Amino acid sequence: MVCLTIAATAAAPAEIERKIDALLARMTLEEKLGQMSQAGFGRLTDQRRAEIRKGRWGSLYGGGTPAEKAEAQQIALKESRLGIPLIYGQDVIHGLQTTFPIPLGQAASWDPELVRQSARIAAREASAAGIHWTFSPMVDIARDPRWGRVAEGYGEDPYVAAAMAAAMVRGYQGETLDAADSIAACAKHYVGYGAAEGGRDYNTTWIPENLLREVYLKPFRAAKDAGIATYMSAFNNINGVPASGNEFTLRQVLRDEWKFDGFVVSDYTAVHELIAHGYAADAKDAAFKAIRAGVNMEMVSTDYWDNGKALVDAKQLDVKTIDEAVREILRIKFRLGLFDGRTQPVPSGAQAPSAEALAAANKLAAESLVLLKNDGALPMAKSVGKVAIVGFLADSPRDQSGTWANGSAGTVTPLAAFRQALGESRVLYARGLRNGSDTSRDGFAAAVEAARAADVVLLFLGEEASLSGEASSRAFLNLPGLQEDLAAEVAKAGKPCVAVILAGRPTTFHDVADKMKAVLYAWHPGAMGGPAIASAILGDAVPSGKLTITFPRTVGQVPIYYNHLNTGRPPAAQEKFTSKYLDVSFTPEYPFGYGLSYSKFEYSATKASAPQVKVGGKLTFSADVANVGAVEADEVVQFYTRQLAGSVARPVRELKGFQRLHLKPGEKRAVTFTLSTDDLASYNPQMKLATDPGAFEAWIAPDSASGEKIEFAVVR
Ligand code: BGC
Repeated sequence: MVCLTIAATAAAPAEIERKIDALLARMTLEEKLGQMSQAGFGRLTDQRRAEIRKGRWGSLYGGGTPAEKAEAQQIALKESRLGIPLIYGQDVIHGLQTTFPIPLGQAASWDPELVRQSARIAAREASAAGIHWTFSPMVDIARDPRWGRVAEGYGEDPYVAAAMAAAMVRGYQGETLDAADSIAACAKHYVGYGAAEGGRDYNTTWIPENLLREVYLKPFRAAKDAGIATYMSAFNNINGVPASGNEFTLRQVLRDEWKFDGFVVSDYTAVHELIAHGYAADAKDAAFKAIRAGVNMEMVSTDYWDNGKALVDAKQLDVKTIDEAVREILRIKFRLGLFDGRTQPVPSGAQAPSAEALAAANKLAAESLVLLKNDGALPMAKSVGKVAIVGFLADSPRDQSGTWANGSAGTVTPLAAFRQALGESRVLYARGLRNGSDTSRDGFAAAVEAARAADVVLLFLGEEASLSGEASSRAFLNLPGLQEDLAAEVAKAGKPCVAVILAGRPTTFHDVADKMKAVLYAWHPGAMGGPAIASAILGDAVPSGKLTITFPRTVGQVPIYYNHLNTGRPPAAQEKFTSKYLDVSFTPEYPFGYGLSYSKFEYSATKASAPQVKVGGKLTFSADVANVGAVEADEVVQFYTRQLAGSVARPVRELKGFQRLHLKPGEKRAVTFTLSTDDLASYNPQMKLATDPGAFEAWIAPDSASGEKIEFAVVR
């Protein structure tokens, strides 16, 4: 993987450390604990002004107008004893003024460069609004779509998530952190949060160390290699120890092994929650355990401030430990240029997304669309007579914006986009249902009538934005409420039906898909979801997104993910005593990496540059990929490997590379992937990272479930 390390700042590190030494020498313990404290900004009240003057807060997040931010910063710089600036954080997750697709949708583009550009635009908008720091990217690997926060991450695969993590960090942090349009990134939620038992948010996780290192830590490591400034310690308990009090993950891995020198902020009240976890006896113990573990800054709860002095007085905590924690916070403040008059926001009204930003949002939304089924109904001929658009999600700006949208300025809904493309008179709209929890069928008749009067029906189905994201786990993955019934009724009108599904997670919709001529998965596509969907349906753009998370047939198959182990009895359709279910197939509805196009691609001549490679060496794998269809289109080519035997059993496939190709009809291109044997390394039972010699397989394939096998060996 290509990981670009960003020069963290223009200022020389030694000079920064000297300045920090000088500050630490003058700071009172109270001022140090203040630096380690973060509160919600809210409004700039007189009480808040007084607190800032006395150095009560190192950071404020959310809230605060640009004018209030500018004033509060002036107070910190000019009126506090040591003039230490505040750092302003905010959840800028998939855009600020310009809403991009949810991260799970962005990942489906397999286009890290476009993802980087989205973060760059978000950084420009955020820095102009006085925000210094975003709580993004969220790089939690998740194998359970019940967990609502799958929407916020990049899916189930560590390689894809690592590529996206690096792209986001590069986008936010730019060339140097102290550039006026750069903001600090924060990789969250460190770590393992996505493995919540039962997919229930905040729930416990049990992750063996090799899995932790090979899967869950990978994207966090990629963020470090890209120069990330901060991490956020998670809510969950990992293997008995809460992530926000975990010395193994926070000190040993992050500081000692990775040499991370920025700071860690806890998640929202996660320090105080150490008590509820049954890990800390009281607030004092919680502060002690979180600081000892290496959580520099406490978000919202006030255990550090309330108990830090008592802990030092009792000699439970050494001032040196506090100084180290503060040093890492000040380091990032220096790198951001906050001490040196970093440009303050210009107080102005709400910013509207620029045309350039909306164009980028449109492009990313277009690339995130995944065509799951097509019986030839798509692309839809523009000469088609009338189109019935059915479903409330066709015209719900808030819902298409997704879980972390900061508004829906500039949003164009699918309904508006189709009216624009086809003319008002050719579009017949019926909501069918008011929302996903509507229990009335009163709107069905109008929907069926619209379908009857139309030549083609577009059904917009799925989840509202509020059904994914934080605290939005679901025990069922079906289309919520009466939507399946609505689809069945509308299909009875006998017109060709196409479903467009907007959702924050994989959903199950097998019976609906059976009734449809085509299914397009659009996630929550953001501000420009409407035009992106309309272009794809009308053939002005060709869908090219592919899934980065497995779609189950039913919730009962969860957790289901492509890079699983083989077991001693791999599932076989005809064999009862194999690893499968009696009542549903063991295969997913749609596998990881899957997505159709309006064109067709043929893979041939897949081969390795040599039949074997020595440990420490490199091998090249290649294939010819040809566009044998009728339209110009992109294809995301994927490269997988498998180790057949070794010191531990390895997954049936692991992604090791991908490339997005653009091919004209009839065009054929050779695609190559270079693999070093280090890329095949795994943790053995002694937790040593090593590459086992032996037999391996590789695939250059359109998805995780197909492709021609290439055999090769790793030898000493
Ligand atoms: C979430 C974080 C978020 C933080 C601040 C928490 O509840 O877990 O993802 O960054 O709140 O808003």
